[in-house]
Amino acid sequence: MIIVTGVTGQLGSRIVDRLLDRVPADEVGVSVRDTGAAADLTARGVRVRHGDFADPSSLAAAFEGAAQVLVVSTSRTGADAVADHAAAIGAARVAGARRILYTSHQAAAADSAFAPMPDHAATERHLAAAGVAFTALRNGFYASTIPHLLGRALETGELVAPADGPVSWTVHDDLAEATAILLADEGRFDGPTPPLTAPDALDLADVAAIVSDLTGRTVRRVVVDDAEWTDAMIAHGMPVEQARLLLGMFRAARAGEFATTGPELEKVLQRPATPVRALLAGISAG
Ligand SMILES: NC(=O)c1ccc[n+]([C@@H]2O[C@H](COP(=O)([O-])OP(=O)(O)OC[C@H]3O[C@@H](n4cnc5c(N)ncnc54)[C@H](OP(=O)(O)O)[C@@H]3O)[C@@H](O)[C@H]2O)c1
Repeated sequence: MIIVTGVTGQLGSRIVDRLLDRVPADEVGVSVRDTGAAADLTARGVRVRHGDFADPSSLAAAFEGAAQVLVVSTSRTGADAVADHAAAIGAARVAGARRILYTSHQAAAADSAFAPMPDHAATERHLAAAGVAFTALRNGFYASTIPHLLGRALETGELVAPADGPVSWTVHDDLAEATAILLADEGRFDGPTPPLTAPDALDLADVAAIVSDLTGRTVRRVVVDDAEWTDAMIAHGMPVEQARLLLGMFRAARAGEFATTGPELEKVLQRPATPVRALLAGISAG
């Protein structure tokens, strides 16, 4: 049985959808914190069991009979995130899974300026030490972040943010479909994958130029000082920790941490990845 976690989220829900195109429902199980939130999957014949990474004892039943377990990373950061992922990896091993897959990141690195990246690197070390075959999916940066970075740019004509750099923007749909393909075609990648990204890395000036082109209205990229931006975010109600985390994303981007892209995602999909322009066309159309 293939066990998938995180299926109530943006990525995991799409993964299980695409997986059900390829694998009979009675060979798919999901581990969710709230089984009621996966009632649609129960109706489709998927085994739905309660499993919470923060309560490792719940995972034995959730992962029972697993041949493969896909661990979707949680949104916590630091030691909490690594503890979540280590608990899931440990439970997958105890359940007898022959392969563990994990949603890592293209920029996973212990010395990254962006806090989730060391967490991914630490999780990959747990995977390597688990004594079970694993695939760390080195996913591109979610393109769904772009609308948040645009903020009110379409209204004001200014995309205001700290200095950035090129980013491997990749859409959830493409990552989910590729993950489903790799689950159904077990063992195609062993260990950390090459970057699973769209082919182009774009910075915010590129994004502003595409939006300008699509809308016919100039959106100017305005670079603001790190401290000025952080203070403004906090003044607008963003918690201090979150503002610092986001600033780390800009610092990592301008250090080129997210600039690496590769052809593997498109090879797995056997089609072009979704370009940022297509995402922006949707946003610009309102
Ligand atoms: N590649 C990137 O650029 C990028 C960007 C942002 C995030 N990420 C990572 O990718 C992950 C998946 O993305 P997404 O968009 O699908 O996020 P999402 O919509 O927030 O989904 C997160 C999923 O994790 C589950 N989860 C949270 N805590 C859990 C726990 N203690 N035990 C078991 N499951 C738990 C959630 O379940 P509930 O419904 O019960 O909360 C939800 O299903 C994120 O969580 C984050 O680690 C990657």
